[in-house]
Amino acid sequence: MADLIDGKAFAEGLRQRVSEQAAAFAAEAGRKAGLAVVLVGEDPASQVYVRNKGKQTIAAGMASFEHRLPAETPEAELLALVGRLNADPAVDGILVQLPLPAHIDEQAVIAAISPDKDVDGFHVVNAGRLAVGQAGFVPCTPLGCLMLLKDRLGDLSGLEAVVIGRSNIVGKPMAQLLLAESCTVTIAHSRTRDLAQVVRRGDIVVAAVGRPEMVKGEWLKPGATVIDVGINRIAAQTEGKTRLVGDVDFAGASAVAGAITPVPGGVGPMTIAVLLRNTLIAAHRNIGLAPPSSL
Ligand code: GUN
Repeated sequence: MADLIDGKAFAEGLRQRVSEQAAAFAAEAGRKAGLAVVLVGEDPASQVYVRNKGKQTIAAGMASFEHRLPAETPEAELLALVGRLNADPAVDGILVQLPLPAHIDEQAVIAAISPDKDVDGFHVVNAGRLAVGQAGFVPCTPLGCLMLLKDRLGDLSGLEAVVIGRSNIVGKPMAQLLLAESCTVTIAHSRTRDLAQVVRRGDIVVAAVGRPEMVKGEWLKPGATVIDVGINRIAAQTEGKTRLVGDVDFAGASAVAGAITPVPGGVGPMTIAVLLRNTLIAAHRNIGLAPPSSL
């Protein structure tokens, strides 16, 4: 049986280190590090995420600024708010919750965020910095996955890594991070031929496709380390109930893999913990301090 990779416990440890450093930052700077979160509309899942982000930001000893705007907010008004947050010295990090309502151009909003406050790492400047190996901000979910992989495997150099999914938020930055760790990286996606054969190469498999239980145990190289980014709600056995599953068939994969993240309790808890880390790093850089190396 595969070992479980406990993302919940790792995230707790990271939040603890962030809290300690946030206190040191506040003492040095004379103010708390600050994260602004903008939510447009009433998407239920987004409301839960935003509430959790606010709670965990405050619990870590940082300032949380929440901006909730109605779904019909014009794009220009959202851009103006982003402009004010860019200029506000109390705000170190800005996160505009996605998805945005259809009448708003997501790329235009992301482009309006100052790259030095873009703690989501979605701005093209940060994507470019990641691609060329400069310090910037890396999207929280793939960075959290990398932390779990390094914690489990140590040096990743020379390992075969297969990333399934090519989104700007997970797949592409994940591949860049693994490449920077000197893995041999394959990016697979919905048009990949013979996915099972490709996945079998992987000493590391990161699944981020958004298809419930798609990756089967028989596809895996025995002993592989499997990171499941998927969060899919499906009908449970019991009538009217639902349950969360990943993009990997957990039962099948557990019999073959060396280690695997569960869903829930694997990658999920890492995202907000890394967001807090990125915000605290932004705060240091914004006032010309070196970010703490323990983060
Ligand atoms: N929606 C789902 N995940 C994320 C995220 O990590 N950042 C933002 N801004 N929106 C999201």
